[in-house]
Amino acid sequence: MATEIGVFVAWPYANGDLHLGHIAGAYLPADIFARYHRLRGNSVLMGSGSDAHGTPITLKAKDENAAPIDIVRRYHRRFLESFQALGITFDLFSHTHTPNHIATTQDFFRTLRGKGDLTIATQKQFYDEAAHMFLPDRYVGGTCPLCSYQRARGDQCENCGKTFGATELINPISLISNTVPALKDTDHYFFELGNYSAKLLQYIADKDYWRTHVQNFTRSMIDEGLRGRPITRDIDWGVPVPEPGWESKVIYVWFDAVIGYFSVSKEWAVHSGDAEAWKRWWKNPRARSYYFIGKDNIPFHSVIWPIELMAYDAELNLPYDVPANQFLNISGEKLSTSRGLAVWLLDMLKEYDADAVRYYVTSILPETKDSNFYWDEFVTRNNGELVAAWGNLVNRVFGFAYPRYGAKVPEPQELDGRDRDLLSKIEAAFPVVAQAYETVRLRDALRDSMALAREVNRYLDEKAPWTVFKRDPAQAGTAIFVAMRAIDSLKILLAPVLPHTCEKINQMLGTEEPLFGTQCIIERPENGEVSEVLIYQPAVSEKAGIDRFKPSELAPGKPFAKPAPLFKVLELEAKP
Ligand code: MF3
Ligand code: ZN
Repeated sequence: MATEIGVFVAWPYANGDLHLGHIAGAYLPADIFARYHRLRGNSVLMGSGSDAHGTPITLKAKDENAAPIDIVRRYHRRFLESFQALGITFDLFSHTHTPNHIATTQDFFRTLRGKGDLTIATQKQFYDEAAHMFLPDRYVGGTCPLCSYQRARGDQCENCGKTFGATELINPISLISNTVPALKDTDHYFFELGNYSAKLLQYIADKDYWRTHVQNFTRSMIDEGLRGRPITRDIDWGVPVPEPGWESKVIYVWFDAVIGYFSVSKEWAVHSGDAEAWKRWWKNPRARSYYFIGKDNIPFHSVIWPIELMAYDAELNLPYDVPANQFLNISGEKLSTSRGLAVWLLDMLKEYDADAVRYYVTSILPETKDSNFYWDEFVTRNNGELVAAWGNLVNRVFGFAYPRYGAKVPEPQELDGRDRDLLSKIEAAFPVVAQAYETVRLRDALRDSMALAREVNRYLDEKAPWTVFKRDPAQAGTAIFVAMRAIDSLKILLAPVLPHTCEKINQMLGTEEPLFGTQCIIERPENGEVSEVLIYQPAVSEKAGIDRFKPSELAPGKPFAKPAPLFKVLELEAKP
């Protein structure tokens, strides 16, 4: 039975380009997961967008002497191009500065206020006397009160991942003027998270299938006690507080950004032609929603967002899973854009094909612990595994058969034990690999599928159809037939990870229906200032809900096209 699967992905701040840390942290795993479910025939809604607000944007705008909207427009456009190039198929990738998102956020605000979950309190906040402004938490630096990391920001510590307020920092300093800021009174709305402690505990009670580090982080946050959190800020860029007298303040970016998951679903629904269609993912007990994020985003997704949802409308689906990833290091060092230690996605895609990048990054996804990207390993794994074990297998089999069996799948003789053994091994792998995809163990899914490719190579080495052909073409044809079925099955197992090349194999086999749909950037004139979004147009079989994640039934006599090489052998020199 087809299910609705929400695939929600962290909204990247539109203040810089995407690097492999973002890709390995959230976007690639989300896309693999979404594609798996689309093959399964489930109804996927994969949504995200540019995080357009908050101090990450205003700080960057200040640096460049530009308007925040110009920064947003620039990086938003580059996100769209990056996702298109890597094949990250969002049903809708929007942004948080749309009229729809602003209205939805204000509706959350008013609803929570009406329920008594927002209170006003006076807070002491840092004020920069030199710059004549209140300092948002991110504009203050200092030492982490919890782990003593010296370069913590006022909202969160990059080192231990804990969130706090700037006034808790040790040795605070204004990042605007480098002076020591003074404390001054200011009014803010506070979101009383504590009102929902019991409900949150109830919600996480059955989440024993969450990744251990996500469970631990969430439990410890609850154990520390859920206190009221200020959700307004003294800056002039963001969602306006919908209250008279609050014109100089905006809603806190994290309160607004997570609402994006909901607002983008509504935006998608309007675009789909059925404005109520979002309910299939949000007001449907059968639907499941998964949130793909990096570990620094855990508190906002496993605690704050569920509470926002509970408070807004008790009927809305809460996150089913939050498969947060750990961090990706580069050559053994912590990734750091300021120290130039990052691999920029667009640079990498200028040199390398999307599936080569997807293959290696999937194989090193930091699912349970931090992992490492190495350039030389990228090249050797590409050449030794993707090209040698998989690409050559496809080309060897189809290239050999093309002239010799009239460009048709050969008619097999009776299968022997070895033939049946290979095919049943592959059949047996389907539920195992499916389980790995479903439980977001994507490295396992890839590893198990690649092990089968090696099996097929071993099978062919034993059967040696290339030599057998000279004396007995019919017997050789049986081995070729078996290998073709195996490849046709592997094409499905690998398609979520390697969609572009598996689509090529699919085409070569003359399959009428493509595996996946297409994506494009479209203009949305009603969206105010930033009007471009990325959308996905599902394939016919996806729309029909057909389960295609099944072993091959490739028929003898089926014509196929002349195979072309799928992957390139790489040299280390090309590194950008
Ligand atoms: N913009 C945030 C970041 O880059 C992530 C926001 S995720 C959301 O860390 F859910 F809040 F949107
Ligand atoms: Zn810390």
